[in-house]
Amino acid sequence: MLSQKMTDYLNQQINLEMYSSNLYLQMGSWCAYKGLDGCANFLIKHADEEMGHMRRLLAYVNETGSLATLGAIEAPETSFNSVGDIFQKTYKHEQLVTSKINELVHLAHAEKDYATLQFLQWYIAEQHQEEFLFKGILDKIEIIGTDGQGMFFIDREIGELATKKGMEATTMTSPDNADIAV
Ligand code: FEO
Repeated sequence: MLSQKMTDYLNQQINLEMYSSNLYLQMGSWCAYKGLDGCANFLIKHADEEMGHMRRLLAYVNETGSLATLGAIEAPETSFNSVGDIFQKTYKHEQLVTSKINELVHLAHAEKDYATLQFLQWYIAEQHQEEFLFKGILDKIEIIGTDGQGMFFIDREIGELATKKGMEATTMTSPDNADIAV
């Protein structure tokens, strides 16, 4: 049984994960519009992962007998200066998501809600991976650069990450929750 405060916080996280999905979908759409197919594939695939994060939360709230609720989702921005701008923003956004997961963990501790604390362990590990992933992309952009042919190589590298990320997500997932792996 969740407290009302915990239910509210988890529902806010559901909303944030849906916003994350829309944000990455929009960014992927911008990349496709600019002919950057590798970046587009990566971001659109990542948008699917965010929906998986949302569904995992939704299932947990419902399992506790509380009501998962879907609120209005803020529209993401639609224009970006560059691929560097996009990935700076993804990294910053993931840091925000991490801070929100940490708030949930603090609340679960404070309320001695050990079931939710256990549930949140997956998100703690996932956020570590998410920040690592986006920081790695920023490093690649910094090293290779986006001038001239650099943009071609960046797009190819990021497109390849879409496949690798799927493999990491599979190997990171424990057998207990493999059915909802994303
Ligand atoms: Fe669901 Fe990328 O955090």
